[in-house]
Amino acid sequence: MLAVLAILAIADSETVTTRNGVVVCDEPLAAQAGASILRKGGNAVDAAVATALALAVVEPTAGNIGGGGFMLVRMTDGRKVFLDYREEAPRKASRNMYLAPDGSLRNGASTLGPLAAGVPGTVAGMGEASHRFGKLPWRDLVEPAVELAERGFPLSRSQASALEHDADRLTKFDATRQEYFKDGKSYVAGETLRLPQLAETLRRIQKEGAREFYQGHTADLIAIHMRSHGGIIDRTDLAAYHVRIRKPLVGTYRGREVMTSPPPSSGGVAVIEMLNILEGYPRKMSPANRIHVTTEAMRRAFADRSELMGDPDFVRVPVSKLIAKNYAAKFRNEIDPQKASRSVDIKPGRWLPGEHRETTHFSVVDAAGNAVANTYTLNGSFGCADTVEGAGFLLNNEMDDFAAKPGSPNMFGLIQGERNAIAPNKRPLSSMTPTIVLSRGKLEMVLGSPGGPTIINTVLEVFLNRADLGMSPVEAVRAPRFHHQWMPDELTTELLPNDVLDDLRRFGHRLAPTRSQGIANCVFVDPKTGQRTGVADRRYRGSAAASE
Ligand code: GLY
Repeated sequence: MLAVLAILAIADSETVTTRNGVVVCDEPLAAQAGASILRKGGNAVDAAVATALALAVVEPTAGNIGGGGFMLVRMTDGRKVFLDYREEAPRKASRNMYLAPDGSLRNGASTLGPLAAGVPGTVAGMGEASHRFGKLPWRDLVEPAVELAERGFPLSRSQASALEHDADRLTKFDATRQEYFKDGKSYVAGETLRLPQLAETLRRIQKEGAREFYQGHTADLIAIHMRSHGGIIDRTDLAAYHVRIRKPLVGTYRGREVMTSPPPSSGGVAVIEMLNILEGYPRKMSPANRIHVTTEAMRRAFADRSELMGDPDFVRVPVSKLIAKNYAAKFRNEIDPQKASRSVDIKPGRWLPGEHRETTHFSVVDAAGNAVANTYTLNGSFGCADTVEGAGFLLNNEMDDFAAKPGSPNMFGLIQGERNAIAPNKRPLSSMTPTIVLSRGKLEMVLGSPGGPTIINTVLEVFLNRADLGMSPVEAVRAPRFHHQWMPDELTTELLPNDVLDDLRRFGHRLAPTRSQGIANCVFVDPKTGQRTGVADRRYRGSAAASE
């Protein structure tokens, strides 16, 4: 109880600078949960697990135990691991499961309700991370989340407006209406939201361990819910789920080491491919020239993403070719420094696999310098909108990250490739790109963002703002962003100066304004002093919390 009161007493903060540990995430209560674990003697992984589980309570749009994600860990003892706890297609999933008999896509089938859900990976991911790297007992890591769900917490402005915005879709599902709404009405910001069923589920997981979710009463509740509401995940799927331990993908950029996400993320490959292209240009250029060549790099990396990537356990992904320096040099040769290419001329000529824009990223560094970059998701905001009856958590709609109908536009107007077609036990292609940067072997940046395809470019730009433009940590996160994903052939831009926009138009780019791109909750370490600066992206109103 005291822990929660202490948590509630601490105000949120956009930035924090410290010699100790730091947690940066979307919601202040979750940042404080992570920081409280650091204060107890936990390391960065302990804090990351506590933060993820607390976000599952206080950030229902994306924080989750019903979804999945990626955790990139770099320990000071030299261990570097990428934990792939992405959702998996159930055994009964099939290539055409979302198609009507006439071959058309059934409206909403891959996004709404339990048939849209993949087998959740988050609880297994957190269990595996704690088991491999953690110092504190599992029960301590789950406790802040249990307390928040049991006692209730003041709903943040962002979450209250998201619940209200999605109320029609969410209240279609009885269990979601009961757990997340008050007599069918939305909670307002600051009102106390209690999540008793979620609290019970978290208690069970706390007592019996992560396997409870996959083999215990929670697994029963999921299987029963699926059977009675048209889903296909069963006990066998849950019992068979396991975290895949992968080697981080590593590239270099002007002497820095960029450790990032391998497939089934497309993000790490794309980021390294783009950095390799950009490395051949001067570090400093005019803003319009810099945005132009970066856009040309984005256009090419995203074209490759659309056609060449998928779950590496099912399809061959030519990773080493795509991240080779000489491959990037070929692209540089064809980029005109003052003229935009047309995406239709860039092969492979297919559309980009599509995602929704709601996911959540947090970064943690502890006093010793261990680092965690974690991005996880329900896919769409509030996932498939359905809550497991009796268990109180929302289920993902990650199946929509597959190509529901390869070669045809999905409900978002996006076309996805054959390598990302649905198959039993396969994991859908992702854009999530948790990334850790080292300079002369020392930790320098912990990066990541939500935002579907924009994740990749947000990570790239925050990195370049710091590495090439020498911006301060806060400037690097706040600077206006831009995004090109090959198709549609348009450059979306946050607020840029008019003269830069005019130059970009003159180069032939089709511009589309966007209000906001990504939420980069990052930690920056000054390699000389060891000083850590956590920056919560003000595009969300997140929070950075220090351990002292
Ligand atoms: N669901 C968003 C992603 O994995 O990229």
